[in-house]
Formats: sequence, structure tokens, C-alpha cells
Amino acid sequence: MAKNGVAIVTGGTRGIGLEISRELMDTGNLVAAIYFGNNEAAICFDEEAGKRGKAYKFDVSNFNACERGIAEIENELGEINVLVNNAGITRDGLLHKMPEENWHNVIETNLTSCYNMCRFIVPKMRERNYGRIINIGSINGQKGQFGQVNYAAAKAGMIGFTKALALESAAKGITVNIVCPGYIETDMTSQMKPEVLDSIIRQIPVARMGKPREVADIVSFLASEKAAFITGSTISANGGQYLA
Ligand code: CAA
Repeated sequence: MAKNGVAIVTGGTRGIGLEISRELMDTGNLVAAIYFGNNEAAICFDEEAGKRGKAYKFDVSNFNACERGIAEIENELGEINVLVNNAGITRDGLLHKMPEENWHNVIETNLTSCYNMCRFIVPKMRERNYGRIINIGSINGQKGQFGQVNYAAAKAGMIGFTKALALESAAKGITVNIVCPGYIETDMTSQMKPEVLDSIIRQIPVARMGKPREVADIVSFLASEKAAFITGSTISANGGQYLA
């Protein structure tokens, strides 16, 4: 059971983030699901969540937008106990052809967003001596991936971010961990070329892709009071594809 309070899930209205939002609502949290692009998914989320959650629209790669958005959530819903930094994008392509914006957009949305969100939430968690921060990394930040120099760099950066913030936060009752999923059935992987995806699935020992729910269950445990002794950890969920 989670300590009742507000849980923020960035990218929380679709894909892995939506399953995390659902799981956190089911375990008693009031969920603020942050989104930026897809209005329809946000409307569906609001309908499904009812009084258990609400979608908020702001750009997590923008420092000032995060400050405003987090203040609005605190005003409307209350104190934040759980932060899940899940929002992420891909702009796959080989480095020698990669446009500059595809580097910056991926680094800012996937990695800088963690700084932006934590910068405004961690000080209040420190005052209250309690917090759970879970970052969503990727197998490709652990092992690298052809065509993902930008994404792998951002996700690897999140691992270092997690470890450093865990050390700074340990004495204040705040745990910080990272879950690194492998290839999961979401819109993101469905956009890959079928032949590339097939070749990757052949490298997964359990011989299938993962399901969003299988990531959400791990996040739910890390977000609970039971997980107080786990901090600074990198938890892989990749069907055995990469044994870090
Ligand atoms: N290793 C070595 N060489 C490879 C290779 C690999 N894994 N894949 C392709 N190549 C070679 C190709 O054979 C080709 O060589 P030739 O020019 O000699 O024929 C060359 O590299 C160029 O390959 P492509 O034709 O595929 O290049 P492209 O520009 O059409 O496509 C790409 C590039 C879009 C990056 C494509 O390779 C790709 O989709 N790669 C997979 C990226 C990936 O895994 N993305 C994951 C998205 S989901 C996600 O990120 C979620 C998560 O966290 C797991």
C-alpha cells in the first residue's frame, strides 16, 4: 500500500505511464498525470480516473512550465509524495545524419525534465522527510543501441542522475530509483520498422515483448512505504535481453 498522497506521473496518460498511473490510483494515490501532446488521451484519462486523478498539460522540458504546473497540482490536489519521471521521446537515426534538434529534443525531454521536476519537488519532500522518486530509464541506456545515440545518452544520464540524487536524499527519507524496461508493447515500439522490431524480439530470451503492466507493478512497489530500503538502484525488466 502506498502512503496516501499525490503521485505525479509524467507522460502519465498513455503507454507505460498510463499503466503506472492506473496502478498508483489502485493503491490509493491521487494521481496527477502530466501530458503535453495528446489531448484525446488526456480526456480519456480524466474520464477513467474520476476523483482518483487528473491530467495536467505542461511541457516537462521547460523549467518555468514545471514550476507553474507543480504549484498548480499542489494547490489543487495537495502534497506530493511520489514522482515518476516517465515522459520520454525517441528521434532515432544515425549520429552522422542526426539533425541538431533531434539531439537537443531527446536530451531535454528525457533527461533535463528529471532535473526540472525534481528541482521543484525535492525541496518539499526534504521538508517533510518523505518521498519516492522513480525514474523510467531503458535497456538502451544500459547497453547502447544502434540508431539511438541521443536516446541512449539521455537514458544513461538518468542512471547517473538517479544514483547521485539517491545519495543526496537518503538521509531525508526520500528514495530514488530507476526502472529500465526493455522492449514493451507501446506506441513507441509500434512505430519501429517491423523487420527491425522482429530482429530485436529474436534477442529476447523470454521470446516476447514486455507489457506496460509489468513495468507498472515494479514502480508501484518502489512507490510504496515497503520499499524504504531500496535506493539508488537500477532495476532491469527486459525479459533477459541484457543482464546488467
Ligand atoms: N548493427 C549494425 N549495423 C546495423 C544495425 C545494427 N543493429 N542495424 C542496421 N545496421 C546497418 C544496416 O545494415 C545498414 O547498413 P548498409 O548501409 O551497409 O546496408 C546501415 O546500418 C543503415 O541501417 P538502416 O538502413 O536501418 O538505416 P536507416 O537510416 O533506414 O534506419 C534506424 C536507422 C531508424 C535507426 C533503424 O536502424 C532503427 O530503427 N533502429 C532501431 C532503433 C531502436 O531500437 N529503437 C527503439 C525504439 S523503442 C524505445 O526506444 C523504447 C525503449 O526504451 C526500448
